[in-house]
Amino acid sequence: MNKAREMTRREFLKVSGLMTSSAAIGLMPFLSGCGFPAAPEIDQDAFLVDGDHLIVRMDKTSLLSRVGDSAAVSMEEDDIHLIIVRIGEERYVVALNECPHREKRLGYDPGSEIFLCVTGKSEFKLDGSYLKGPVEAPLRIYKSTQEGKTLLIDLKTDKMSER
Ligand code: FES
Repeated sequence: MNKAREMTRREFLKVSGLMTSSAAIGLMPFLSGCGFPAAPEIDQDAFLVDGDHLIVRMDKTSLLSRVGDSAAVSMEEDDIHLIIVRIGEERYVVALNECPHREKRLGYDPGSEIFLCVTGKSEFKLDGSYLKGPVEAPLRIYKSTQEGKTLLIDLKTDKMSER
């Protein structure tokens, strides 16, 4: 009876050990590659470049309809990559959508109000200042103003350089 009980315990330990290893192996991809999703991209017909400004038609995208939403603008031909965050009813933050480390795209976490590199390794405050990551550099932040249903982004100026 004791022997049978001992076998059961041993078997249990063996099986649970195996299960623990399997669980750890199963989790490995998530633990090693814990990145962050990039901001969704705004459709091309919702924005255009006009001289030194990028104009976003807010009525043509639903990606920024709520406070805390974020969206990306990508124009490969003009090398323009921005991330826009709606921080208030009529207030937005616009940053360069390139991590200073290796220029990966960014996402935004409305809970903590920080920008995150898709690798999950770099973080930045809403004002672009560095929080953590391999390269201690800020994000470039662009001036923007809302005019009716359009968001006007000044591509030539950035708030960080004015400090
Ligand atoms: S590219 Fe963002 S941390 Fe490396």
